[in-house]
Amino acid sequence: MSRSPHPQYATEAEVALVVETFYGRVRHHPELGPVFAARISDWGPHLAKMKDFWHAVMNTSGRYKGRPVEVHRAIPGLSRDLFAAWLALFREVAAEVCPGRTGAIFAEKAERIAESLAIACLPAPEGAPPDLGTGLGREAPPCA
Ligand code: HEM
Repeated sequence: MSRSPHPQYATEAEVALVVETFYGRVRHHPELGPVFAARISDWGPHLAKMKDFWHAVMNTSGRYKGRPVEVHRAIPGLSRDLFAAWLALFREVAAEVCPGRTGAIFAEKAERIAESLAIACLPAPEGAPPDLGTGLGREAPPCA
């Protein structure tokens, strides 16, 4: 019997349910909906890609091969508020469709990725406020 060296945090069915429910709500969200509508006309391929992405994130499966930073840098109008709205909706969906530990792990991983995407995509100080604790966006310390 071969076992994966990585923890498997979500089944195919859980990933599919989170992705389909989340983007179903994104499309009707007053701020997020228009951003997606401007870039996605055929939702089938986007949902398939996002299932691969979340499968890779939850199970370290390597199924997603992409460049999310470049993709998000090309989206006009991203802001700290938009990231906060995205995360609030994602947390709500994860807790609702995967109550308990699995939903909490989805939310925790989303928070970390959102934070690094925001740092990479938003201009400082929005993307890198001093309280992130990463050291990014701050002046380099004077040389000793
Ligand atoms: C302000 C919040 C966000 C907005 C408005 C947003 C919007 C979008 C849009 C419109 C696309 C499709 C781009 C295109 O194909 O032209 C996209 C792709 C994607 N998003 Fe986001 N996104 C947000 C945050 C996030 C976060 C927090 C994650 C991860 C946890 C994420 C993961 C992805 C991935 C993996 C793709 C596919 C990239 C590829 O084509 O390989 N997004 N996003």
